Amino acid sequence: MTSTSRVMAVTGANKGIGFEVARRLLVDNPDATVLVAARSEERGKAAVQKLDTPRARFISLDMADAASITAFAARVAADYGRLDVLVANAGMLGMDVADTRASIAVNYTGNVRLARAVAPLLAPGSRFVFVSSRLGSLAALPGAALRATLTAPDLTVDALSRVMDAAADAADAGGAPALAAAGWDPNPYAVSKVGLTTLVRLLGRDEDRPGVWYHAVCPGLTDTGGNADAIAGLPGIVPLAQGADGVVWATRLGAEGGVNGAFWAEGRRVDYADQADMDGWKANVPAPELVTA
Ligand SMILES: NC(=O)c1ccc[n+]([C@@H]2O[C@H](COP(=O)([O-])OP(=O)(O)OC[C@H]3O[C@@H](n4cnc5c(N)ncnc54)[C@H](OP(=O)(O)O)[C@@H]3O)[C@@H](O)[C@H]2O)c1
Repeated sequence: MTSTSRVMAVTGANKGIGFEVARRLLVDNPDATVLVAARSEERGKAAVQKLDTPRARFISLDMADAASITAFAARVAADYGRLDVLVANAGMLGMDVADTRASIAVNYTGNVRLARAVAPLLAPGSRFVFVSSRLGSLAALPGAALRATLTAPDLTVDALSRVMDAAADAADAGGAPALAAAGWDPNPYAVSKVGLTTLVRLLGRDEDRPGVWYHAVCPGLTDTGGNADAIAGLPGIVPLAQGADGVVWATRLGAEGGVNGAFWAEGRRVDYADQADMDGWKANVPAPELVTA
C-alpha cells in the first residue's frame, strides 16, 4: 500500500538527538507520520508514548543486524510504500580501540545496508540525512595513501566497505598501532564517521533520480543530558534543541550548494577534507539562524 501522507523515520529515536528530531518532525510536519526506529521495543514504545500522538509509531531496527535492517525496509514498504525523510541518527560512541569493529558495524556498515534497503522507497522529494560528526575528519587522517583512497572520485561503496573492513581487522589484530599503521587516527568513533561521511558522498554522487538527496550533518557537540560527563569542559557545547535543529534543517535541504552527498554543520556546507573548515566548532562558532519554518 502507498500512504497518501508523508512518512518520515528516525533511527535511534528513543533518546538523545534522535528523540528530539522525531519530536520536531512531528511538530513541523502536521501531515506526516513519524516512525520511531529503535533496537529496543521497550525503549522505542516508551518514546512513542512520550511523543503522545498517533502520528508517531514504533518500528524495530537494530543497526548491527542485517536481518533487522531488511525487515525494517520491508515493513515500511508494506505499511506505507514510501519514505519521504529518513534521518539515520543511530550511532555508537566507541572511544576504545576495542570498539572499532562494533563502531564500524553500527555507524558505517549498518548505514550502507539501510541505504540499499530503503533505496526503492525513495522518490523525488525524499531526503536521507545521516547524522555524522566533525570528528570524522578526512583531513585529520595521518595516512596520505588512505586519504587519497577515500577522496578518489571513482571510489565505490564496495571498495569503501573493504577499507572499513580492513580497519576493523587491523584494530582486532594489532590495536591502535595497527590502525595507525594503516593511516587512521585510531579513534574508533572517528574512523566510523569518516566512513559514514564518505559513504554519503558516494550515495549522493551515484544517485540518478532527480530530487532524491543525501546529506551528512554534524549536530555539533550536543548536550543530550546523557553525555554530560563525556563532554564536560569541551568547547562549543550546544543545547539539545540546537543540535536537533541542525539535523531537522538538513531534512529540508535540496539543491543548496548544488552537491548531492555533502557534509553540513552549523547551517552551512563544510569540507570534511579541509581541517581549517572542520576545526570551526573548536572556535565555538555561533550557530547561524536556521530556517525552521
Ligand atoms: N551528542 C553529540 O555531541 C554528537 C555530536 C556529533 C554527532 N553525534 C551523532 O548524533 C547521533 C545521536 O547522538 P546522541 O548524542 O543523541 O547519542 P545517544 O543519546 O547515545 O543516542 C544514540 C542512539 O542510537 C541508538 N543506537 C545505538 N546503537 C544502535 C543499534 N545497533 N541499532 C539501533 N540503534 C542504536 C541508541 O539506542 P539505545 O538507547 O538502544 O542504545 C540511541 O537511541 C549519533 O550518530 C552521534 O554519533 C552526536
